[in-house]
Amino acid sequence: MSAPPVQIWPHLGFEDTPYSTLPLLPVARDARLLAGREAALDEIKYRLVNDRTMIPLQGDFGVGKSSVANVAAWYASTWRKQGPQIYIPVAKPFVLDIGTLAEFPREVYRRVARALISGAEALADDYRGLARVDDMKDWISAPIIRAGGGGGTAFGFGGQFSVTKAINATDAMEEDGLRAIVTEWLDSAFGDDKPGAVICVLDNMETLGSGRTVAQLIEAHRDSLFTANGLRWILCGAERIFDGISTRRKLHGFFSDPIEIGPLSDDEAREVVSRRIHSLALPNMTQLVPVTPDKFESVYLRTGKNLRFALNICHNFALHVGRDVAKVGEPSRAELDSKLADYLAERARRAADVWGRKLPPAQATVLDTLMSQFGGSCSSNDWREFSQYQSAFSNAVTKLKEKGLVERVDHPEAGGRSLITATELGRWAYFSQRQEP
Ligand SMILES: Nc1ncnc2c1ncn2[C@@H]1O[C@H](COP(=O)(O)OP(=O)(O)OP(=O)(O)O)[C@@H](O)[C@H]1O
Ligand SMILES: [Mg+2]
Repeated sequence: MSAPPVQIWPHLGFEDTPYSTLPLLPVARDARLLAGREAALDEIKYRLVNDRTMIPLQGDFGVGKSSVANVAAWYASTWRKQGPQIYIPVAKPFVLDIGTLAEFPREVYRRVARALISGAEALADDYRGLARVDDMKDWISAPIIRAGGGGGTAFGFGGQFSVTKAINATDAMEEDGLRAIVTEWLDSAFGDDKPGAVICVLDNMETLGSGRTVAQLIEAHRDSLFTANGLRWILCGAERIFDGISTRRKLHGFFSDPIEIGPLSDDEAREVVSRRIHSLALPNMTQLVPVTPDKFESVYLRTGKNLRFALNICHNFALHVGRDVAKVGEPSRAELDSKLADYLAERARRAADVWGRKLPPAQATVLDTLMSQFGGSCSSNDWREFSQYQSAFSNAVTKLKEKGLVERVDHPEAGGRSLITATELGRWAYFSQRQEP
């Protein structure tokens, strides 16, 4: 027999970890956790209402693109209380890679159908009722029956399923039926300029590898999905994947300029954690906060302003001290802060074992500027900001790359520029260079 380990978050007075690295979702509770981002939210909302183009968000990995997209979609869903516009977010972002491209349209129809079902009542209240919604509800929630066949009718379109049919034929029929009903629903809900839409977030588009693949995907589904009546798309991508796409002829007028999502300010970063501490505190319990908002701000700054990176460090530190707290008892605030300092120093030391200990001045300056002024990611065109000649800058980047401290991705779509991004090791190297006195 083995006893289950102690559940550390309730033990520390929280429902869950205050340092989760998961993106915020389009729900009220997560919307309250969003710190800063006023300008980006305003811009997304403005485009949702006034423009029919796809809305691209661009920024470094883990900076907060998905979160701001999802929270904007949630805000749009609250507008139905203030007028006729009905926006319904799809519950979770779509994520694509080359392997799942073929599945993409079906997945869209399926999830849009679910979103429409969840908004069916609101739509009906506004005289935009959806036909056969109860049948669809049953169908969507009973995939087993669907796969097993048994002669059921595919949403009344007359397609008899049977177990003997090849899986692919069944899938194709399903897709046709699903597409037909979703199109019909979108039309009754949002046709004739009825205000609102289903909002889809397509995430992590850099996984498609190049701007050209992204453009091909969008071109292939431009009319059927990306500009379909009643669907609005927010697209998120790192590595400047959208550069140069809006100039492609077939996408002219359908693809607006990317909204740049940069690092949060120091104050906003502190707020990320203070909001979570508040929101996740268990009532009637004292909280033992592993990393305070102030300390989080310091970790965020000293590792080059990347939210996910800083949150991840703090989450792991919390797990690490949680064990002792459960065994030995509660440490004081000062003890916790000093354990955090030790933990960070140890992580930095382990990283230094890999890359070395000291950087020559030119490389140290480039790394320092990359982190402190660009949040860890810049274009090769930004070399003037580094107070070095272009060739010296290039050399330093090459050396940093050899040490594994930065990565360089070439961007043929964006006029031959390349994108320079700090690696995890690079963030620790930066940290080591500027240890707190
Ligand atoms: N403005 C914000 N306020 C509070 N928390 C945030 C904010 N932005 C992001 N976060 C948190 O930071 C982490 C990273 O955010 P998110 O996943 O949205 O980044 P991303 O840019 O989409 O990353 P990726 O490039 O990996 O897709 C998540 O834990 C998220 O909850
Ligand atoms: Mg994301």
